[in-house]
Amino acid sequence: MTVFSEETRARAREIIARYPADRSRSALLPLLHLVQSEEGYVSPAGIAFCAEVLGLNKAQVGAVASFYTMYKRRPTGDWLVSVCTNTMCNVLGGQEVYDALVEHLGVGHEETTADGTVTLEHAECLAACDYGPVMTVNYDFFDNVDPKTAVGVVDELRAGSRPTPSRGARLCQLKEMSLQLAGFADERADAVADGGPGEPTVRGLRLAQEHGIAVTGFDPNTPIRSKAEAEQAAAEAKAKAEAAKPAAASAGAAKESRPAGYAKPASDAKPAGDEAPVKERSLKDAAAGMGDTAGSPAGNERGADQ
Ligand code: FES
Repeated sequence: MTVFSEETRARAREIIARYPADRSRSALLPLLHLVQSEEGYVSPAGIAFCAEVLGLNKAQVGAVASFYTMYKRRPTGDWLVSVCTNTMCNVLGGQEVYDALVEHLGVGHEETTADGTVTLEHAECLAACDYGPVMTVNYDFFDNVDPKTAVGVVDELRAGSRPTPSRGARLCQLKEMSLQLAGFADERADAVADGGPGEPTVRGLRLAQEHGIAVTGFDPNTPIRSKAEAEQAAAEAKAKAEAAKPAAASAGAAKESRPAGYAKPASDAKPAGDEAPVKERSLKDAAAGMGDTAGSPAGNERGADQ
């Protein structure tokens, strides 16, 4: 059974120290990445290690480790190649890409090549549908792949080179990536990616601007509150709610009490037709995208960006 290095133990202490002492179990997710960074997967020894340092039992740790697909339960190659075969990528050829890799590498889902370099898996949506079909190598993206380019990428990996992803930082091996996921910065030059979003990513935004579609009442200058400000706002809201209680209580006392589960008397109900017209109007406006906005406070249901 693996005895984890002193360096890993020190890092484990550092991870645990990031969380409040009475909630140290919150450190479990990064700790699982940490043990994976040493062994290349979450072994029974890794489970035992996490349980020991967090004061949990192995069943509790195992339940978490087996829930998330990013924690590998079997020895995994240096290069985890994930091919998206979810809906969007699939209609664009994702399955053909996966099938080509299966045939070329001679492995199936979650299997590793005999030389231990590449583990293949098919993946659910990788959140890059606008670049489909996509595959990732240790979670870095290769966009718009086809069978030929995908096979080229794995051949480069097996030959010992690191092909350049379509975007993001330089490739690193699975153990290195696991260490980053545990919360430790990659110190290599070019480790951090730069640059804005690609054109396919902002296509929806461009179309919205083109057609004058905006979110009603959206203010891009809305300040982001600090934690202290958010807490103060919550305290004020609570105080306001408390202050409103006596009025609500006296209003309630005036009403006739009735057993729980009884329907409201007709006199309490809103007049028939009170809600339907509002719904009808808003649906109509939304469908047409051009309702009469003269009466709206800012008149900004559409055209705000024009
Ligand atoms: S369906 Fe492939 S990235 Fe979303």
